[in-house]
Amino acid sequence: MRRAVCPGSFDPVTNGHLDIVGRASRLFDEVIVVVTINQSKNSLFTVEERIDMLRQVTASYDNVRVESFRGLLVDFCRAQQATVLVKGLRAVSDFDYELQMAHMNIGLAGVETLFMPTNPLYSFLSSSLVKDVAKWGGDVSPHVPDVVREALSLRLDPSVRG
Ligand code: PNS
Repeated sequence: MRRAVCPGSFDPVTNGHLDIVGRASRLFDEVIVVVTINQSKNSLFTVEERIDMLRQVTASYDNVRVESFRGLLVDFCRAQQATVLVKGLRAVSDFDYELQMAHMNIGLAGVETLFMPTNPLYSFLSSSLVKDVAKWGGDVSPHVPDVVREALSLRLDPSVRG
């Protein structure tokens, strides 16, 4: 069984993430989307909320499941018997840090990293940018699934919060 892991903060999941997960699901027998828990990051959504949104938006993929993990990603991969990490690359600016992590992860545990070029439609997209636009009431509907747009409105838009 070829099992891959798609890791990230997913705070929240965007259409860019979903594109990578969907394409990975066609390349591997099973894909585990893992929400990594990083207490030093200020998150808008709790880990449970992020998992819940991810489960809803990946429900149509039979071979995708969603988990969370605190610790080294390679330890998660080992425990899940996953040999490959799948990462989306939006632009050359992503590459430096991703390459460092890829070298570290193969050195630590022999876990390979597969870089997938992000669909150009989403190459400018990030969770941070989406949160900033939503915070000021901008339209994020082209960039996130409906369930995420609604969650962002409830949490961020002052006109919805009242
Ligand atoms: O969505 P993000 O925040 O850009 O994802 C970064 C992530 C989760 C892939 C990275 O921070 C990570 O791998 N964290 C897990 C801890 C770990 O294994 N660190 C060593 C990386 S070489």
